[in-house]
Amino acid sequence: MEAARPVLGTGRVADYIPALAAADPAAFGLALATVDGEVHGVGAWEQPFSIQSISKLFTLSLALAVGGDELWQRVGREPSGSPFNSLVQLETEHGIPRNPFINAGAVVVTDRLHSLTGDARAAVRDFLRAESGNPLLDSDSVVAASEAEHGHRNAALAHFIASYGNLENPVATVLQHYYDHCALTASCRDLALAGLFLARHGLRADGSRLLTRSEAKRINAVLLTCGTYDAAGQFAYRVGLPGKSGVGGGVLAVVPGRGTLCAWGPALDPAGNSVGAVAALDAFTTATGWSVF
Ligand code: DON
Repeated sequence: MEAARPVLGTGRVADYIPALAAADPAAFGLALATVDGEVHGVGAWEQPFSIQSISKLFTLSLALAVGGDELWQRVGREPSGSPFNSLVQLETEHGIPRNPFINAGAVVVTDRLHSLTGDARAAVRDFLRAESGNPLLDSDSVVAASEAEHGHRNAALAHFIASYGNLENPVATVLQHYYDHCALTASCRDLALAGLFLARHGLRADGSRLLTRSEAKRINAVLLTCGTYDAAGQFAYRVGLPGKSGVGGGVLAVVPGRGTLCAWGPALDPAGNSVGAVAALDAFTTATGWSVF
């Protein structure tokens, strides 16, 4: 918390989704959950915020758990080196997004999850409720509507992908489910608990297995290389953990075998990652040595 304080409020709150622009740029929270399910926090660690792209790690995990490796024929797993909402690689790469965490890739994963489960938004919401133990966790319909209203880029991406035959469901349906899972509202506490399956090598809170050990390893690897977009190299350098950011200002990081950390601060750097959350995670891993390296 002390490490984050000097940078809180530096950076910009996301305003391309108008409903997010009202967030307090100086807010901050941090939660730490351990593999045995204990959770501790500082600051506003129990205050709900818009999870945005952190949802992409849950859609990917569920799509792989339910449908297996066929997904990888429709989305790659290389860092894009481009902004999270970029369209540029889609044309030369024939509608196959670089990785599941940029918006283009997440749209394909949402489409796959929707085909597999019949209701992508409910699959993500119900999983988060179960793992966090928070039955009230839900989507904010105002945020989802705001995003849809200002969603020209995501609509362009989705139509472009569909033009290559890489969507199975109607574009409007896929986008609605994508906006709804991005608009889920959860706290650092909820997200740290919900991410523990990746620290437990695939085991859920109730002890059942969501992913094989090897699948959990692979998801952590893609988080490390792609989870923070064109700043993934910088995040790996500073924090040394697999992590996923969202433009609501949250970052969820995994310490395999030990636990998870979720930090939140709404002001973002130019790549769309929280300035305060990354600073706090950097300081935490440097002080404790909790890292994959
Ligand atoms: O589609 C969007 O632009 C947002 N729902 C999610 C983007 C996001 O969170 C990028 N992450 N830092």
